[in-house]
Amino acid sequence: MAAKVKKKEQKYLRLLLHLERLIGNETDPVSIMATIACELYHSFKDFNWVGFYRVTEKDILKIGPYQGEHGCLTIPFDRGICGAAARKRTTQLVDDVSKIPYHIACSPKTKSEIVVPLLQKRKVIGVLDIDSHKFNAFDSVDRKYLEMVCEMMVERIGKGPANKT
Ligand code: SME
Repeated sequence: MAAKVKKKEQKYLRLLLHLERLIGNETDPVSIMATIACELYHSFKDFNWVGFYRVTEKDILKIGPYQGEHGCLTIPFDRGICGAAARKRTTQLVDDVSKIPYHIACSPKTKSEIVVPLLQKRKVIGVLDIDSHKFNAFDSVDRKYLEMVCEMMVERIGKGPANKT
């Protein structure tokens, strides 16, 4: 078990370095989101949908770059696991989405999900959403490193001239 966790941590650390190299000095939010969605999707076989929702107006999330089958276009803050992550400004880790009455089933195949808020200082600018066709696909290691990916991303975006999502 410990060896498995260590292997996963090492994989995430390699991925973080790879992402930093790929992103370089880029600050454009869409370019960065597209790159991260692509790399995460292709790195983990149990990640069946990886993408971003962006806050485009008060309490509204709109779909951004993603990989996987099509996702819903708009999610208000008071709906879905994505809405909960945006509203509460904390990561939502769901082992079994059928147990969450407010879960929005973009795909009936989704069994578990993790949603990490993108926080620019205290302000939520979007969320990273990852779905899996397996139950319990995400754990505290995923949470820790996906939060690091999001922090790195928000920091890069914050260096941009327009600083918008
Ligand atoms: N399941 C999400 C909706 C987005 S899709 O999974 C891509 C939710 O409950 O917010």
